[in-house]
Amino acid sequence: MKSRKFNLKLKVKHLKKLDRNLLSKILKLKKSHYKFSLSSQKVWFKKNIQNLDKHLILYNKKNVIGYNVLRLKKIKFIYQKTKVLNNAYIFDTIIIKNEFRNQGFSNLIMNKSNHIIKRKKYISFLVCKKKMIKFYKYFNWKIISDNKISISNFKKGNKHVWMYYGKKLNIKNIKKIEIF
Ligand SMILES: CC(C)(COP(=O)(O)OP(=O)(O)OC[C@H]1O[C@@H](n2cnc3c(N)ncnc32)[C@H](O)[C@@H]1OP(=O)(O)O)[C@@H](O)C(=O)NCCC(=O)NCCS
Repeated sequence: MKSRKFNLKLKVKHLKKLDRNLLSKILKLKKSHYKFSLSSQKVWFKKNIQNLDKHLILYNKKNVIGYNVLRLKKIKFIYQKTKVLNNAYIFDTIIIKNEFRNQGFSNLIMNKSNHIIKRKKYISFLVCKKKMIKFYKYFNWKIISDNKISISNFKKGNKHVWMYYGKKLNIKNIKKIEIF
């Protein structure tokens, strides 16, 4: 990685360690890519972020140049005759600041996220646009059929693809995965 002129540090924080200043840097970074205003980002954050979610923050010196969050969720695997409860992470919002892209920096965040998911022995799901499939496959994420997933408070779009990482799944035997 060409990081000689950079001073990169990746930190994993819970909500209580995100002070206003840091949160504002994160939301500004998100706003640079996603079309939502800062105030709607704040509303989303308040509504969806819980205490045990893990925020992966990539710094170059004191600047936030990358971010992703693993949101802790309960899931239920529904098999033919049984149901199994488990923890899972929703993998949300990976972003690298524009001028820092294409230098391998997303590796730092993706590998750390994958490591956390594996260490916890959880499964993680994400939803992405079709053009991002290649990117996530590069980090060993796999596609899962949209009709296997049932999720509350989420509007499914037909242009989106669900992917998962972590625990091995015997997809054929699973009728449904409920995320709530
Ligand atoms: C997607 C994103 C995080 C990638 O970050 P990055 O630091 O530029 O990516 P890297 O340089 O670390 O690339 C890692 C690998 O993924 C590949 N890759 C990067 N962006 C890709 C993309 N959009 N589609 C497919 N592959 C991609 C790279 O070619 C590289 O593979 P290589 O090592 O074989 O060359 C960055 O482009 C970004 O922030 N985009 C805007 C936000 C976004 O779209 N997030 C995804 C939401 S689902």
